[in-house]
Amino acid sequence: MEAKQIPTEKVLDSSFALMKEGYNFIRKRCEVHKSDIFSTRVMFQPAICVSGGEAAALVYDSKHFVRKGAAPMRFQKTLFGQKGVQTLDDVLHRKRKEMFMSLMGQEQIAHLGRITREQWLMAASQWDNGKPVYLLDEAQKIMCIVACQWTGVPFKSEEIARRSNEFGAMVDAFGTVGSSHLKGKYARLSSERWIRGLISQVRGGWLSTAPGSPMYIISFYKEHGKLLDLKVATVELINILRPIVAIANYIVFAAVAMHQYPSAKRKIVSGDKNYMEWFVHEVRRFFPFTPFVGARVRDTFTWKGYEFPKGMLVLLDVYGTDHDPRKWERPEEFRPERFKNFTPGAFDFIPRGGGDHYTNHRCPGEWITIEATKVAVKFLATFMEYDVPDQDLNIDLSRMPAFPKSRFIIMNVKVKEPVYEAV
Ligand code: HEM
Repeated sequence: MEAKQIPTEKVLDSSFALMKEGYNFIRKRCEVHKSDIFSTRVMFQPAICVSGGEAAALVYDSKHFVRKGAAPMRFQKTLFGQKGVQTLDDVLHRKRKEMFMSLMGQEQIAHLGRITREQWLMAASQWDNGKPVYLLDEAQKIMCIVACQWTGVPFKSEEIARRSNEFGAMVDAFGTVGSSHLKGKYARLSSERWIRGLISQVRGGWLSTAPGSPMYIISFYKEHGKLLDLKVATVELINILRPIVAIANYIVFAAVAMHQYPSAKRKIVSGDKNYMEWFVHEVRRFFPFTPFVGARVRDTFTWKGYEFPKGMLVLLDVYGTDHDPRKWERPEEFRPERFKNFTPGAFDFIPRGGGDHYTNHRCPGEWITIEATKVAVKFLATFMEYDVPDQDLNIDLSRMPAFPKSRFIIMNVKVKEPVYEAV
């Protein structure tokens, strides 16, 4: 039987539209074509864009897709680094992923929660100086300290602003061109120089780090009986540091949600742990972070009558899948209670990718992200008092990654004496 024709964008190349429309690019076109699939050209190469849970299940099926060659060089030079776990397939991916997953046990997650709590207390106690606090920038600095402490990376406190800016710039380079992209490139070069030096010292025995810490595990991780290439080990340690700093974006989105929905904040203050869980899930579903992920077709196959040729780049719409009205009732409303009686499948709720954490490319940092966000939300809601002056909280969906335009300003911060308890 002849393959069906994939609805096709009638343009030479969609890269400009993708940059301009950002998170809505795939969803909008799927609506126009009345289809979960369309084809176009992105960065001057043919690509198929897909959206929705069924498409997510397809793209995470490693029988049909590989990651080799999926991430453009411009992402590897900024966001991901080269030869990291994101670019691996099959046995090599599973083994390297196991190493990441070994860092995500209950005790390690709880340890990250404790550090996060301490650092929020220390930082916020110094904010009562009458000056506006730009929460996104401060949260990034806090999470940078958390990232270094948790991984076992030594740092000087006067370095933190610079390092957190560098990690932020790598993420920022994702959807930008020109100077922001260059900034991301330099940020990666500088961070890699720093981390490479530290791993060399650990390997040489000049710097001690706790056995079991991510720094130790990555420094001494072996592939084919040999230590990981120093450059690759560096990329993998940054693969943990950089996204921990990026949790700041979720924390700020959560703070915006508590400001805009005071009833949600009241429920959090009441200590309802179930509500806290739903709230953090809804923050991850509702607010934009990862717009899409890319993969390449392993061998030609047919899906729903459409042919996917070998080597084709396929972009899966992450943001649109998390807002798909077929799965999410009134998806444009922020409603944590939607999670009360609804457990989404592994491919319907994909802010961190879909499928299985061990065998697919799904984010290994999902649990620590949830833990750190809960700790910060609880701290902001229960142990801090602050004013929120008038400001522009709009989120520009054409900017990837997105955040509130004002970066969320708070004033007159007071910290109450916290009572330590589990979140
Ligand atoms: C800020 C919150 C985070 C977001 C929005 C996020 C998002 C994602 C997404 C969507 C993927 C899957 C991409 C794909 O299918 O290719 C992913 C993979 C990954 N994430 Fe996260 N992540 C976050 C936090 C973290 C944290 C805290 C860590 C630290 C351990 C982490 C480490 C990784 C790694 C190493 C991968 C690659 C996994 C693989 O290729 O198998 N992420 N992340």
